[in-house]
Amino acid sequence: MTEQTLFMRLGGAEAVVRLVDEFYNNMEQRPEFAATRALHAPYLAATRDVLKLYLMEWTGGPASYSSAKGHPRLRRRHMHIRIGAAERDDWMNCMSAALTSAVANAEARAEITENFANLADWMRNQAGNPHDAGQSFAGTGVHEPAPADCMHVANSTVENPTKSGCTPSEA
Ligand code: HEM
Repeated sequence: MTEQTLFMRLGGAEAVVRLVDEFYNNMEQRPEFAATRALHAPYLAATRDVLKLYLMEWTGGPASYSSAKGHPRLRRRHMHIRIGAAERDDWMNCMSAALTSAVANAEARAEITENFANLADWMRNQAGNPHDAGQSFAGTGVHEPAPADCMHVANSTVENPTKSGCTPSEA
């Protein structure tokens, strides 16, 4: 029997759309997520759409994100935002709240929560991130991350996102 992708176990495109809408609705409405909201631009419509495409592909669904945008370069895309342990935790709490209401399958929810936690931890861009090798790309201020797969993590075949995939220049 073919193993179902995480995307399917989460509930497919409908569930991902529900998850991202819930995530940003919570961020916009709930006071405990105000600090995370303040890091974002005033209008989130475009970011909502991008995160939906990204998560569908990341979990093993349609690869529309790559077709539209190429490699995610996720860490580099977040470099203009200060992400330390507190920002990581706030973001994770907001995502966990959304997962609780958007995904019924508890096992799939636990799996994606762990994948999110690993990726969000790797995204920290302040001093002291143990995933960093302590080097910088010349002139960019971007620290060289440990190799990480920020696209093909969550479809169950990769145990640890920090052990496969992106080269530093892609991340
Ligand atoms: C697993 C962790 C994360 C994932 C998968 C993720 C994914 C994404 C994606 C796909 C986008 C859209 C990028 C684009 O429009 O091209 C985005 C935007 C953004 N993310 Fe994250 N993110 C993560 C963690 C975080 C954390 C921890 C923070 C800060 C607390 C954060 C803050 C932002 C902000 C502020 C934007 C909007 C950037 C802009 O419009 O310039 N993200 N994220």
